[in-house]
Amino acid sequence: MTPHLSRRQFLRSAGGITFLALTPVGRGLFAATNTPAALPLFTALPYVQPGPDSQLKPGAETVRLAWQTEPVKAHFTVEFGRTENYGRTAAVPYAERSYPGATPAGRYNYVATFDQLELGTEYHYRVKGNGAVIATGYFTTRQPRGGKIRFAAFGDNCNGDPSDHAIAYQVYQAHPDFVMNTGDNVYENGLDSQYSSYFFPIFNADVAALDKGGPLLRSVPFYSVIANHDLNTTDPATGHPCADFDEHPDALAYYTNFHLPLNGPTVNHPTTTRGAADRLQNFRDCAQQRFPRMANYSYDYGNAHFICLDSNTYIDATDADLQAWIAADLAATDAKWKIAVYHQPPFNAGAKHYKEQQMRPLCPLFEAHKVDLVLSGHEHIYQRNRPLTFAPADLSRAHALYSSDRLIPGKITLDLDFDGEKVTKPKGIIYLTTGAGGKKLYDPGYTNDPTKWLHAEDNNVPYAVKMNTDKYSFSLFEIDGDVLTMKQIDQDGSEIDRMKVTKA
Ligand SMILES: [Fe+2]
Repeated sequence: MTPHLSRRQFLRSAGGITFLALTPVGRGLFAATNTPAALPLFTALPYVQPGPDSQLKPGAETVRLAWQTEPVKAHFTVEFGRTENYGRTAAVPYAERSYPGATPAGRYNYVATFDQLELGTEYHYRVKGNGAVIATGYFTTRQPRGGKIRFAAFGDNCNGDPSDHAIAYQVYQAHPDFVMNTGDNVYENGLDSQYSSYFFPIFNADVAALDKGGPLLRSVPFYSVIANHDLNTTDPATGHPCADFDEHPDALAYYTNFHLPLNGPTVNHPTTTRGAADRLQNFRDCAQQRFPRMANYSYDYGNAHFICLDSNTYIDATDADLQAWIAADLAATDAKWKIAVYHQPPFNAGAKHYKEQQMRPLCPLFEAHKVDLVLSGHEHIYQRNRPLTFAPADLSRAHALYSSDRLIPGKITLDLDFDGEKVTKPKGIIYLTTGAGGKKLYDPGYTNDPTKWLHAEDNNVPYAVKMNTDKYSFSLFEIDGDVLTMKQIDQDGSEIDRMKVTKA
């Protein structure tokens, strides 16, 4: 079996639903049609998720297919296989999230597991509800080592604006194998209701259109990282960001909507939760081990290894346990390319979040383990940096938890030779902010004006080499052997930047 997809397969890799008997009946609500027995309304159409695996194991790959309905009982079955004859049946357990006083009063979160799959292979699925076919589709499993991959990266996206519909459409049109979201996936509070309104209908739209989004999630795995807008409120006692289940019973939906790798540290995570015990228990029952383990995780895809980290204000990146887990993870992989992903960018040329440098203490560790790229969001801009190395000089603010002033001064050494075109082998890590995914843009007037991209606190070191703050955009990566290419594509489908990185 060849690990490479044919061109025809590749073009089919996105939008893989071929039949859908569910029609929109309201914002984020879908009703089944032509079923013999009534089905509850759907709050999320079937969407493909990576599942808990981190490493690539031929013949032992698993993929999840999830969907959500209003909390009314129904009987679902799912078949899957290499062809549309299917041949295997997946178990379909569900977990309930309960939202007392809300309409609807909760969700049933269904998740089917496809297991014992080959890598780099197309599979088909068929979902039946109360005996009638409601959806059929297909997806392609992760490429093995040596396989060419294509992925989209962006953050700060879903707010119900025309801009996030346009980005979802352009991402769909780019036919990625998967999406690596850089955080703040939904606004404002990471609630399940906000996922229903702003995320699922747009990234799993029935049609592909600039003003609607695209049918991406039904065939394309979507990875994300936890970020500041996943915490729904502020703890009145401390003033710190927290998840308050009394204020919003559907808080922290990141942990119940996504099914991401579960190889993160087992130590307690510092996310603060509060609220009535039964509400917290309901959330924990639904999330199970995903909370808090999906705060940090890693996975492989083709020749790349991704390490995804929580960079919120409660993180102290000098923490020995965290650093030990990161070091062990990066030391263990034999991937040719290593990419770190977290929300708050450490070398931000923009103004709004410049001082949130809490992840800078990890730079030397990343350098020691030959990380190639760091992808972030948070600042609603596109910013590409020159390759750089960083030696921290004062880590005292790394411990200033919850502060938005986490300045970590140090020595920044730039690779001024790399141009991403003719000189393509970088000396240092390339830090990239791709936070222009749909939410209102920051830093107007910064595009093509390098005089604005300097910060006195960094001795005016010109680490930014490209910045765009007046277009919504996403990053499209391809990794093929020793060559990585990146194109930044705007809301109209036009290329606004590109770079090539090579290892040979
Ligand atoms: Fe953010």
